[in-house]
Amino acid sequence: MLSLVRKTPILGALMAQVVAMPLVAAVTALLSGMVDQTPLIAFALFLQGAIAAVICRLFGLASWWLLIAFLFPLAMAGTMFVGNLPAWPFGIAFLLLAFVFSNTTRGRVPLYLTNAATEQTLADLVRERGARHFIDLGSGLGGVVRKVAERVEGVEALGVETAPGPFLVSWLKSRLSGHGEIRRQNLFLTDLSKADVVYAFLSPTPMPALYERARAMMKPGSLFVSNSFAVPDVTPSEIWELDDRRKTRLYLYEMGEGSSPTSAKSEV
Ligand SMILES: C[S@@+](CC[C@H](N)C(=O)[O-])C[C@H]1O[C@@H](n2cnc3c(N)ncnc32)[C@H](O)[C@@H]1O
Repeated sequence: MLSLVRKTPILGALMAQVVAMPLVAAVTALLSGMVDQTPLIAFALFLQGAIAAVICRLFGLASWWLLIAFLFPLAMAGTMFVGNLPAWPFGIAFLLLAFVFSNTTRGRVPLYLTNAATEQTLADLVRERGARHFIDLGSGLGGVVRKVAERVEGVEALGVETAPGPFLVSWLKSRLSGHGEIRRQNLFLTDLSKADVVYAFLSPTPMPALYERARAMMKPGSLFVSNSFAVPDVTPSEIWELDDRRKTRLYLYEMGEGSSPTSAKSEV
C-alpha cells in the first residue's frame, strides 16, 4: 500500500483525512461538555489537519502534501462558513486545473516552463551539433520546440505532451507558426531512436527510468539533456550552468562515443 500511496500521493492525502476523522471525533466528543462550540470546532479543524499532516509524513509524502493536508479542513470549513458561495466557480477551477495538470498526480511532473535564455542555449546547442532530430519530452506549451525549429534550419523538432490543455495550446501554436510538431503522446512511449538531441525538464521522479530508456534507445553520438534534474548515480558528460536569473543547470549525457558541445557556457 505504501508504494501505491507514494506513486499516487493524492490517494495518501485522502486516506490521511479519512483516518484522522474518527480520532478527531473521539477527542472532540470527550471535550464537548467542557469547551464552547466555536473554539471546539476551531480545535477540531486544527487537529484534523495536524493528524492528517502527520499521517502524510508517515506515508513519506513530499512536504507540500503535509501543508495541503493541514490546510484542507480549514479551507473546507472556510467555504462552508462564508455561506451562499455559488458552486460553479469551484467546478470551473477544477476543470481548468484538470485540463492543465491532469497527469501531475501520476507522473509527479507539473507544468513549468523553460526560460528564454535556456531555450536560446538549447537552440544553439542543437545547431552546433548539426542535429537533424530534436525531441522535447513533456513539451508543455511547446516553447522549446518552436524556438529550436525556428532557429535551426532543417531540424525536425518534436514535442510530446499528455496534459490536454498544454497539448492543445502548443499544437495550435505550432500549427499557426509553422514551427515544430507537437504530439499527444506519453514520453515513455516516444521513439527516441532517430533523435540527435533529446531534452527533458521534468522532476526527479522519472529521471532514472527515463535515462534507462534513453540509453537503450538513443543512438551513439546523440545527446540527452536534462534541465535541473540530474540522473541519480550517473555522472553527466558535462554540466552547464547558465548565466540566467535562476542559474539554470543543464545536465548533458552523451550517448556512447560522439562529439561534444563547444558552446562557451560556464561549466561547473
Ligand atoms: C516542467 S514541464 C516542461 C515543459 C517544457 N518542456 C518546457 O521546458 O517549457 C513538464 C511537462 O511534462 C508533461 N508531462 C508529464 N508527464 C508526461 C508524460 N508521461 N508524457 C508526456 N508529457 C508529460 C507535463 O504535462 C508538463 O507539461
